Amino acid sequence: MALLSPKSPLFWFLVAHVTLIEAAGRQKRRTDLTGDNLGPDSFSSHYEPLDNTVTLRSRRNHHAETPGLEPGDAAAAFRVSTLDGEFVYPAGGGGARGSLIIHAFTNKSGFLESMWSSDASLSGLVQDLPDSAQVLFLSQDDSAVSDALWMREQLHRAAVHRKKEVLSRLHFSPVPVFALGNWIPSVLYSWSCTGHNCGLSQAVFTCQGWNMPVIVKRLDARYDWLMGRWGQRSYRLVDAGDGCDPSPSVAGAVAWVSEGRCSFFTKVQSMAKSNASGVLVYALPGNSLQDMNCVGEECSSPLGVPAAMVHLEPSVAQALRFEQLVNVSFQNTPSPNFFIGIDQQGALAEMGWFLYPTFRFINWQAQWFEFYADLQTRLRSPAQVVSVFDKVQMQGDRGAVATVDLPLGLLDLDSLELDASLSCPGRRDLSCAHWDHTVQLFVCCDHFSTYCNTELGRWITAFRRGTGRWLTDVSPLLPLLNSGKCTFTMKTVPWAMPWVVSLNLRFTANQTGNGAVKLRPFMVMSLYSGGTFDKNYNKRYQPIKFPVPASTKKVELLAVITGHGSDENGCGEFCVTSHHFLINGVFNNTRIFDSAGTALGCAMRVKEGAVPNEHGTWLYGRGGWCDGLQVNPWTIDITRQLDMSGYEANTLVYFGLFDGRDPSPARDPGYITMSSFLVFYK
Ligand SMILES: *[C@@H]1O[C@H](CO)[C@@H](O)[C@H](O)[C@H]1NC(C)=O
Ligand SMILES: *[C@@H]1O[C@H](CO)[C@@H](O)[C@H](O)[C@H]1NC(C)=O
Ligand SMILES: *[C@@H]1O[C@H](CO)[C@@H](O)[C@H](O)[C@H]1NC(C)=O
Ligand SMILES: *[C@@H]1O[C@H](CO)[C@@H](O)[C@H](O)[C@H]1NC(C)=O
Ligand SMILES: *[C@@H]1O[C@H](CO)[C@@H](O)[C@H](O)[C@H]1NC(C)=O
Repeated sequence: MALLSPKSPLFWFLVAHVTLIEAAGRQKRRTDLTGDNLGPDSFSSHYEPLDNTVTLRSRRNHHAETPGLEPGDAAAAFRVSTLDGEFVYPAGGGGARGSLIIHAFTNKSGFLESMWSSDASLSGLVQDLPDSAQVLFLSQDDSAVSDALWMREQLHRAAVHRKKEVLSRLHFSPVPVFALGNWIPSVLYSWSCTGHNCGLSQAVFTCQGWNMPVIVKRLDARYDWLMGRWGQRSYRLVDAGDGCDPSPSVAGAVAWVSEGRCSFFTKVQSMAKSNASGVLVYALPGNSLQDMNCVGEECSSPLGVPAAMVHLEPSVAQALRFEQLVNVSFQNTPSPNFFIGIDQQGALAEMGWFLYPTFRFINWQAQWFEFYADLQTRLRSPAQVVSVFDKVQMQGDRGAVATVDLPLGLLDLDSLELDASLSCPGRRDLSCAHWDHTVQLFVCCDHFSTYCNTELGRWITAFRRGTGRWLTDVSPLLPLLNSGKCTFTMKTVPWAMPWVVSLNLRFTANQTGNGAVKLRPFMVMSLYSGGTFDKNYNKRYQPIKFPVPASTKKVELLAVITGHGSDENGCGEFCVTSHHFLINGVFNNTRIFDSAGTALGCAMRVKEGAVPNEHGTWLYGRGGWCDGLQVNPWTIDITRQLDMSGYEANTLVYFGLFDGRDPSPARDPGYITMSSFLVFYK
């Protein structure tokens, strides 16, 4: 920890600053420049549950005077003192504006303590923070001065072997949030959230010999490997040593075990085998709370009990040693939000849900801000835009439906992009629909055509986030728009909560510039659709024979394929499937979903527009799709695989494999959703 010497001028500047705040009557305790005022003992005794109530009451009064700022509102200019001078938003001088992340630290949160202590988390930030992003670090507590120094120290240490440029984009303010005097506190206080982005998870210990409960922060184990949840009740607490070996005495109780000797997984597993109702692992003295997770093979055996990490609480340890009855219960106390984003356009934004304690969630949000700024630029380029849906609610069997006139002279336009967005009934993510559902867009232009209600676009909803906007190039499917008036239907499963959709068609004449005549798709031929991914999957597909129409210059294969459901191998969402289009018996055109099931397969696609920091397990790779992203059509030029004479028929057959073999699930087969076409160009 960085200690400021009382001889240093900065020390006196900060003391003077903080004293001024105290004089204004806004602070009850002396700021402790050593930062030790939140030691393991003092947290419980200094803990003031009433603080939150006070905050909420004053917020309500404030609301009566000024309407609160919401996501999407413009962030007003502000300046705050920092350890290195002053941070000014927006930066003067014009030019391209970057994004800003504001983080309000409090050591009352076990989640944040862990996030700030893990080397992987800290180096993740200094290594991967996008170039356009800055971060302003604040503290919510009386200890803001020492917190700012400590945060700076932590990140500078993490950056020792890295590029130093990033440090100039990290700003640390010694002014506590409650003394900022600008709009930031009101947004932090009023933007409610669930999960780890705010709220203080605590363990409450009681014992007959004590006047007061002892309340400490806790960090629950990651939810994706531990299925158990803490109940509302009071549990008996039983000491089980280091918890590495089964211990019959913990049956029906919460096991109190020390960190070390075996993995977190082994502790929880041996306590679960002993029928413990839950596990509290305490950190060894001097250690920080850690993100308790499984490693490798451990992760394939999920455990059914809850577990959390806490600091070693001497009074609890002592009471257990003297065989006094100690009980523990679990609570979550609301707190101000820990994060605010401001995007490149200067709009306030929520930061989503942090699944586990790492700064990578900040990086992902900032990456998405970059994607979104770039998307805005692309949307400003000239195009003939046809609005189909403008903030229309999509729900139920019918979905959203609209009939529109297409521009005249469509034949001269050779590019079609779908500009689609999904937002929520309210302005906060909390109003957004749960779950990741498939959304499909169907088009019908000629009601007598077999192509009436063919799929034109596909997306997957973002789990409880309302910021998704995507541009999908569907130019090869232009022949589906074969009349001047078309009906578009966009829908998802009828039981999904409502989404608010917007959809624009963007037509452009995509000139290559070198004077070459662009080929234009003039005909599509529908091929195969998917189905249940079971042992009969490939028996359904018969070879298709087709001649190439006269004057065709190019033939493309286009497929939109996504895998869903979960058999015992995780198929088709989380297993590696491959899809093969065999042409004339020799050309094996293959699409493999090799990132399905990987830990960060979809997090890697935030740069392409995958909505970051959703609820659920949005980070994992999936079979051809990601939560909160469009499904890009896969195309491959097959002209040279075909007999183009127009006289001979070509043959094509499709088959889909799991791990290179026919699927053969033992239970709950998944399914493949597919639309596929041949596209003829001239
Ligand atoms: C945060 O709290 C823990 C225990 O409650 C303590 O050990 C640690 O020093 C504190 N960190 C800071 C920066 O105050
Ligand atoms: C302590 O926990 C036990 C077991 O859950 C429960 O029966 C008992 O009522 C609790 N005692 C107190 C004082 O909360
Ligand atoms: C755990 O509970 C099960 C079912 O009640 C019982 O069969 C088993 O003996 C218990 N194990 C221990 C170690 O108490
Ligand atoms: C325009 O044409 C280029 C080159 O053929 C292609 O890469 C690009 O995706 C096209 N853009 C659109 C919007 O169709
Ligand atoms: C096509 O390729 C896949 C793997 O790349 C292979 O499993 C399959 O047998 C091939 N099929 C044919 C007919 O060549």
